[in-house]
Amino acid sequence: MKRNPIEVFSDWADLDKDFGMEINHKESVENMLSFALQNETPFSFIDAGCGNGWVVRSVAEHPMCQNAMGVDGSKKMIDKANKIDPNATYTCANLMQWSPEKKVDLVHSMEVFYYMENPKKLIQFIYEKWLKKNGRLIIGLDFYFENKASHDWSESCGISNMKLFSENEWVSFFTDTGFNEIKFWRYGAKENWAGTLIVTGVK
Ligand SMILES: C[S@@+](CC[C@H](N)C(=O)[O-])C[C@H]1O[C@@H](n2cnc3c(N)ncnc32)[C@H](O)[C@@H]1O
Repeated sequence: MKRNPIEVFSDWADLDKDFGMEINHKESVENMLSFALQNETPFSFIDAGCGNGWVVRSVAEHPMCQNAMGVDGSKKMIDKANKIDPNATYTCANLMQWSPEKKVDLVHSMEVFYYMENPKKLIQFIYEKWLKKNGRLIIGLDFYFENKASHDWSESCGISNMKLFSENEWVSFFTDTGFNEIKFWRYGAKENWAGTLIVTGVK
């Protein structure tokens, strides 16, 4: 039986599988952040769907980072993040319903957006409510149409409602929302693996 992503990832937190995600996602995330942070100007940061908060802790150490926070819908993931680093800011909330008190310069997200009922709506919501003018959204996705190796994940992980879109569709969500300077690429492609699809744009 399939269950919703928050329930499944809460179990994963109990099973310490969040540390496995950190290992599996690390290189793609480093690629995303090295692109997003190349200007060396002061910035504020949100990780949307932060899991145990490993990206927040890493970004907080960047010399130009003024404020870094993480949001995740799984209370178990957020409890874990707070336990690892009680001084950082982590919030348990549904991404579709939460917005920051102060808009930020950079919103990052790895392996999260296709769990939304309507990912384009989340992209629009972040554009309107989370990002400052000239702020950037950057997302990484391993589950997408051209990455055939990912197609059975909904079955194999028992997660309901995973949205399989093509690269062009993901890019069109950014274009239709009104993002500027849109760029996309695939990172880490190898045999039987199309790589992490990374899409980014500036408000
Ligand atoms: C595949 S994990 C990725 C976690 C983290 N980004 C990483 O790379 O380790 C997906 C995360 O998205 C969160 N998530 C899924 N749907 C969500 C929603 N609607 N609102 C908030 N978080 C959500 C899950 O709880 C889970 O922690």
